Amino acid sequence: MRIYFLMALFLEAWSLNQVQRTLFFSPGSSANLTCSNKTWKDILFVTWKLQLTNKECLISISIGESRDNCSDGKSIRNTSMAPLVLNIPNVSSEGAGVYTCKTYYNGGDEEFTFIVSVIVPPKVNAWRELRDGKMVAVCEAEGGNPAANISWSFTGNLLTYKSELSDGLFRVESSLEVPEGVDPENISCVVSHPSWQENRKLVPRLQTGKAYSPWILLILVMVVVLLGVLFFAQKKLIIWRRCQKSDSTSLTPPPREDVEEVEPYASYVQRVNSIYGRQ
Ligand SMILES: *[C@@H]1O[C@H](CO)[C@@H](O)[C@H](O)[C@H]1NC(C)=O
Ligand SMILES: *[C@@H]1O[C@H](CO)[C@@H](O)[C@H](O)[C@H]1NC(C)=O
Ligand SMILES: *[C@@H]1O[C@H](CO)[C@@H](O)[C@H](O)[C@H]1NC(C)=O
Ligand SMILES: *[C@@H]1O[C@H](CO)[C@@H](O)[C@H](O)[C@H]1NC(C)=O
Ligand SMILES: *[C@@H]1O[C@H](CO)[C@@H](O)[C@H](O)[C@H]1NC(C)=O
Ligand SMILES: *[C@@H]1O[C@H](CO)[C@@H](O)[C@H](O)[C@H]1NC(C)=O
Ligand SMILES: *[C@@H]1O[C@H](CO)[C@@H](O)[C@H](O)[C@H]1NC(C)=O
Repeated sequence: MRIYFLMALFLEAWSLNQVQRTLFFSPGSSANLTCSNKTWKDILFVTWKLQLTNKECLISISIGESRDNCSDGKSIRNTSMAPLVLNIPNVSSEGAGVYTCKTYYNGGDEEFTFIVSVIVPPKVNAWRELRDGKMVAVCEAEGGNPAANISWSFTGNLLTYKSELSDGLFRVESSLEVPEGVDPENISCVVSHPSWQENRKLVPRLQTGKAYSPWILLILVMVVVLLGVLFFAQKKLIIWRRCQKSDSTSLTPPPREDVEEVEPYASYVQRVNSIYGRQ
């Protein structure tokens, strides 16, 4: 039983891999889905079952008879090159979905499943930030279908996250630890996506608010140094004054500054004395 079950699982996975294909098309483009490479003389009947976002419908064709309850311009083309091509004249998000094609021919049938997906270009963004005290360059491609590819001009400690957003679109974030001794302006990422003819190159720049700018850092260092100097000077002054006090107890004459400091008190005493003297 278990072996049968495993075999069934294996076969299912195998057949899914064999017949299921995901195809990406730009919106507004014309798409051709090729169902089989059999020729018309072998074919008895062809059906396309469409499971789209808004509806389910069928298009079928056999010699002398055809049916279509999709009624949206899709048609099975009868060309000599590929006789069972389903043509989607104007790909849009309403046309995205699962397309299952079944061909009945003399001697059997075959089934193919295509997942039709509409290409959506992602929005790209790049910046540098501090993460755990390390400078990290980050490139982001958000809201694209399929997920974008991000590569870097430098090899290094690399992290890439991919997540699916609620609407079937993808967000890809790739971050690279800026290697030591490398000018961060020399680091760039390349984002590739089927919606673009050419790859996009981005240089992650330092983002204000995401990291301390060098100017703020410089000012902070200066303030700290200044405070240190002030503190040291004050300590020195206290020690110096103590020395002066102990010096005055000895026989050396007090320096002039000390005299000036004492003077207001002396003159006050003198004045008081003079007042008393008058009375
Ligand atoms: C699809 O096939 C039709 C003819 O069957 C052709 O005119 C059209 O250009 C094809 N489209 C693509 C995208 O190959
Ligand atoms: C048709 O396609 C199958 C695989 O899908 C291949 O084995 C076979 O050779 C093809 N036949 C022709 C006539 O191209
Ligand atoms: C088309 O026909 C199929 C089966 O006959 C049915 O399941 C489906 O709902 C129909 N779709 C529309 C849009 O009428
Ligand atoms: C498709 O074209 C072939 C000739 O190329 C013809 O024999 C066949 O009957 C056509 N089938 C349909 C459904 O029109
Ligand atoms: C394709 O579809 C879109 C919306 O679904 C429409 O705006 C556009 O005009 C269509 N283009 C053609 C060539 O039919
Ligand atoms: C990303 O790269 C992989 C292999 O490097 C490739 O198979 C895939 O198609 C690429 N995807 C895009 C969206 O360019
Ligand atoms: C930046 O890259 C250029 C060209 O690759 C190289 O000549 C230069 O030395 C690099 N600068 C630093 C600071 O790494």
